[in-house]
Amino acid sequence: MPKLRQIVFEGDPILREKAQQVLRFNSVLHELLDDMQLTLKEAKGVGLAAPQVGVSKRAAIVEIEENLYELINPVIIKAKGQKNESEGCLSIPGIRGMVPRAAKLEISAQDRFGQTFRLKAEDLLARAIQHEIDHLEGQLFIDIMVEEVEE
Ligand code: CO
Repeated sequence: MPKLRQIVFEGDPILREKAQQVLRFNSVLHELLDDMQLTLKEAKGVGLAAPQVGVSKRAAIVEIEENLYELINPVIIKAKGQKNESEGCLSIPGIRGMVPRAAKLEISAQDRFGQTFRLKAEDLLARAIQHEIDHLEGQLFIDIMVEEVEE
């Protein structure tokens, strides 16, 4: 059974680390991903990166309209256009800000079994993926937001 994990908040140094490549696609990873999914649902968020639950590995999930995307070692291959929209982060409660992001994206990532796949994304999915990949680099949206907005 999946377990809730503790979400860490801004100020925790793990959020500023560059996360490590995932090399083992084993039960430890699967348990992490299952726990992250439960934790994300409970927090009513859109995306969650492993460093946000205290694990400095290149794994993130995004869930939009019941579609779950598990992204292991994700890499942006193409990025097009720019959109400036508001976003927030489960690790930084109470703050939302306008963040410029690429409007369209193509990424390459691995699934939980290590299989490589490509994914095209736009709108909220593209934004969420960029936000999560930033987490894997130790970057937070408050670093690049252009303006704070009311919740
Ligand atoms: Co976040």
